[in-house]
Amino acid sequence: MERANFGSKLGIVLASAGSAVGLGNIWRFPCEAGENGGAAFILIYILCVAFLGVPVMVCEFVIGRRSQANTGRAYSVLAPGTQWKWVGLNGVMAAFLILGYYGVVSGWTLGYMIASATGGLSGDMDYARFFYDFSGNSWQPVACMVAFITLTHVVVVRGVKEGIERFSKVMMPVLLLIVCVLAVCSFSMPGAAAGLDFLLRPDFGKVDAGVVVDAMGQAFFSMSVGMGCLSTYASYFSRDASLMRTAGGVAVIDTCVAVLAGIIIFPAVFSVSGIETDAGPGLVFVTLPNVFRLAFSSAPVAGQVFSLMFYVLLVLAALTSSISLHEVSTAYLHERFAMSRKKAATIVTVFCILTGTVCALSFGPLNGVRLGGLTIFDLFDFVTAKLMLPLGGMFIAIFTGWKLDRSVVRDELTGGGRLYVPFFNSFIFILKYVAPVAIASIFVNEILK
Ligand code: PHE
Repeated sequence: MERANFGSKLGIVLASAGSAVGLGNIWRFPCEAGENGGAAFILIYILCVAFLGVPVMVCEFVIGRRSQANTGRAYSVLAPGTQWKWVGLNGVMAAFLILGYYGVVSGWTLGYMIASATGGLSGDMDYARFFYDFSGNSWQPVACMVAFITLTHVVVVRGVKEGIERFSKVMMPVLLLIVCVLAVCSFSMPGAAAGLDFLLRPDFGKVDAGVVVDAMGQAFFSMSVGMGCLSTYASYFSRDASLMRTAGGVAVIDTCVAVLAGIIIFPAVFSVSGIETDAGPGLVFVTLPNVFRLAFSSAPVAGQVFSLMFYVLLVLAALTSSISLHEVSTAYLHERFAMSRKKAATIVTVFCILTGTVCALSFGPLNGVRLGGLTIFDLFDFVTAKLMLPLGGMFIAIFTGWKLDRSVVRDELTGGGRLYVPFFNSFIFILKYVAPVAIASIFVNEILK
């Protein structure tokens, strides 16, 4: 069976950036930065991206393209008969679990997009109550999650080139355009300076070990590294794509969108006085609708357009990411059990809807079910983002630095000797020592807390 491939280098960058840019950038990053010292957090975050995220991303690319296999099988191809296969299986499991709860928040964004388009978010209303009633309801969030996962399914079923690549090539430019338009609008609002000041003034007083852990977890999550999403995509990369440049490009796009999301959100929030700044997760679902209404009180239609654009942006960003999560498990089933792509995707969709339903209901009827004090949704988030991704990232770095033959890594990075790769030795040094030690120590710190 001939392996699917992305058709162009642009497709490779846009599909990978599509995986990276998601709710992590627009929903999670501004909250984290707002709560953890603004520019001080952003600075630590950028260091984590450069010294941990990018190297691990390059490793995933090497592993995927070299093995020409999905993440679940890649390690058995490169190191047959060893226990390294568990790193790949951990990735498949993580992708599946993340998709369950990611689908829930993505479903909310879909619900808000529809509400915004139909005028359900305008007028004088209590947005906190609205969000609470909506997310705690026993059927609406489930219906939205099912609709969202179904959209994901439709794209994945079409295949790598016709589905994933084509969708990313159209939607990523639209997404980037919306980000820029919103940033300019938000920037020109009165009082924007106070918002920028809040976001960009470094408050190093708030930085402690916990903030560093958060920044690292956020970097892994936002760049989609640590579990094999990008390694699955890389198995579809052409031989002439430069892995270093692709990783650099994806990191730059991902970081710019995250910072721009902060630049969109905080000036808008600060331009409206009298709003309590909830910098937490409610930011985009409670504070922002309020901002859209008050800021445009004299031009409600413009407010509605602004709000609609924002939720369309969230939905698009979430979709291109959920597609990559779905692809990890679909490619695994498809290749492992030699079943058709359609059948594999359908199985993944059905099971995701089941886990997603449990996660969605954990805000309402299942809220009382706690494990270690966490709701089911929080548990999924904790286990994947705080445990599976960093650990996965650490083992991926160790595998590439210590286990893979140096010549294999060099061959992949130089595209068989054609490309010049600066910093090759520093890269290997980071993989062998810096990344494992940094991740392990941050990790131990978190566990001992
Ligand atoms: N990177 C995505 C985001 O920022 C989330 C994601 C994590 C996607 C892991 C794939 C794998 O929202």
